[in-house]
Amino acid sequence: MNALLNPRKRIAITLLLVLLAGCGAMGWQPAIDPIAPQPVNGFVPGTVTAGEQLASAGNCASCHTIAGGPPFGGGLGLETGFGVVYSTNISPDPQTGIGNWSEPAFARAMREGVARDGTQLLPAFPYTHFTKLTDDDVRALYAYFMTRPAVVQANRPDTLRFPFNVRALQVGWKWLYFKPGRFVSDSAKNADWSRGAYLAEGIAHCAACHTPRNRWGAERADAPYAGAPLDGWLAPALNAANPAPMPWTQQDLYTYLRKGESELHGTAAGPMADVVHEGLAKLPDSDVLALATYFAAGNGSAALQAAAPTALKLAMSRRLVDKGRETEPGANLYLAACATCHYSPIAAQGSLSLSTALTSTDPSNFIQTVLQGVGGHGAPGPYMPAFAAALTDDDVALLAGYLRHTRSDLPAWPNLPQAVAARRSTSVSTP
Ligand code: HEC
Ligand code: HEC
Ligand code: HEC
Repeated sequence: MNALLNPRKRIAITLLLVLLAGCGAMGWQPAIDPIAPQPVNGFVPGTVTAGEQLASAGNCASCHTIAGGPPFGGGLGLETGFGVVYSTNISPDPQTGIGNWSEPAFARAMREGVARDGTQLLPAFPYTHFTKLTDDDVRALYAYFMTRPAVVQANRPDTLRFPFNVRALQVGWKWLYFKPGRFVSDSAKNADWSRGAYLAEGIAHCAACHTPRNRWGAERADAPYAGAPLDGWLAPALNAANPAPMPWTQQDLYTYLRKGESELHGTAAGPMADVVHEGLAKLPDSDVLALATYFAAGNGSAALQAAAPTALKLAMSRRLVDKGRETEPGANLYLAACATCHYSPIAAQGSLSLSTALTSTDPSNFIQTVLQGVGGHGAPGPYMPAFAAALTDDDVALLAGYLRHTRSDLPAWPNLPQAVAARRSTSVSTP
C-alpha cells in the first residue's frame, strides 16, 4: 500500500494518524453510567414548567422533530457543509432516546458537547451556547425531557465525509473554537441587559443564525451578530451594520420579538417566524423585553435616533413612486400582482420601503418571501400568498430589480435570475 503513495501523501497520512491519536487520547471522555428510567412524578412540577419554557426558547423541538414526526424523536438532517448530521432522539425512551441518562450526563452534553457514552458531539447541536446555562436551567430542561412521552425511534448515523466523521477530532475543534463555561454578566450593565444577554447568548442562541461562521463551521468571534446566510435566507446583522432604514429601538425589537411584526420594519418570516411564534412565545414579556434591551444596546440605535425622522420621511417619499413608471421593467408586474396589498398612501412599510428584504446586501429574503409568501397555515397575523407557482424566475428577478431601484438608493443586485433559481432549489428547513 505504502509503495503506491507518493511521499507527500505518506507524510500527510502519517500526520493525520498522529493527530487522530493525539485527539483520541486528549478527547477521551468516560461513559457516565446508565440509570434506570425515572418515575415521571419524581420531578417538581414547577421545574418541569420552567423546563418547558426553556425548551421552547431553545428551539429544541424545531431541530429534534421531523415534519409530522413524534416530538423530540430526532432524525432531522442538518447540512453542515461537510455532510449531513441528524438530530438525535431526546425523548426519555431508555433504548433509543436519553431515558437512561442521569442528570450529570445530560448536563455534560449541554455544557461540553459529550454524549453519555463519551462520544464527542458535533456543534450542529448548539452546546456552544447551552454551555452558558445555569445549573437550575439545565436541571429544569432535564426534568422537562424526562417527563415527555417516550418515542421509540433509532438515531440515524451522520453522513460526514472523512476525516470529519472522526468524532475524536472534535477535540481539536473545541480546543480552537469552543469556550466552555457559565454565562458571566458585565457588572457595568443593569439587570435587564444581563437577563437579555443570558437568554440571547445561551438558550435562545441568536448568534447561531445571526453570526457568520468560519470555514470550519465556528461562529466568528471577530464578527458577532454581523449577519449570515442560512438555508437560502439571510439572517440580517443585529449589530450596527443592520440594513434596516429605521433604527431598531428597544420598543421595535420588543414588538417584533413578541408579535412577529414591527410597524417600522416588517414581519418575521422563514426561520425567524418559528423563532418568534414557537421559540420565544412561551417566554414572559419581561424576558422578551430583556432581549430587546440587550440588542438595542448593541446596535447603535440610540445614536441613530436623531436621524430617524429624516429616514422615515425618505421612506414615506418612496411609497407612491409607481405612477408614471409603467414602462420600466417590473413595474407592471408589481402593479398587477403586488400593489393591491402593497400600496399604501399612509404607511411606508406597506409599500415595502422600510423592509430589509430590499435593503440587504443580497436578495435572498426578498426572493424567499415572494416564493413562499408570509404566514398562512391557518395561523393568525398577516398573510401573503406564495408566488412560487405563479411567477417565473425572470418575473421574480424583475420585481426584485424594480423594487430595489425604486425603494432604495442602493446598488442593483447582480445576477438576479440565477439568484432566484438558486433559492428555488433550496428546500426550506428550520434549524
Ligand atoms: C440547531 C439544531 C439543534 C437545536 C436547536 C438543538 N439541538 Fe440538540 N442536537 C442537535 C444535533 C444535530 C444533535 C446530534 C449531534 C451529533 O450527532 O453529534 C443534537 C444532540 C443533542 C443531545 C445529545 C443526544 C445524544 O443522544 O447524543 C442532547 C441531549 C440534545 N441535543 C439536547 C437538546 C436540547 C435540550 C435542546 C434545546 C435546549 C437542543 N438539543 C436543541 C441539534 C440541535
Ligand atoms: C394578498 C396581499 C398581498 C399580496 C398580493 C402581496 N403581498 Fe407581500 N406581503 C403581504 C403582507 C400582509 C405582508 C406582511 C406584512 C408586511 O410586512 O407588510 C407582506 C410582506 C412582503 C414582503 C416582506 C416585507 C417585510 O420585510 O416584512 C415582501 C418583500 C413582499 N411582501 C413582496 C411582495 C411582492 C413582490 C408581491 C407581488 C409579487 C407581494 N408581496 C404580493 C401581503 C401581500
Ligand atoms: C434559526 C435561525 C435564527 C435564529 C435562532 C434567530 N434568528 Fe433572527 N432571523 C433569522 C432570519 C433568517 C431572519 C430574516 C427573516 C426575516 O427578515 O423575516 C431573521 C430576522 C431577525 C430580525 C429582523 C432583522 C431585520 O432588520 O430585518 C431580528 C430583529 C432578529 N432576527 C432577531 C433575533 C433574535 C433577538 C434572536 C434570538 C432570540 C434571533 N433573531 C434568532 C434567523 C434566526
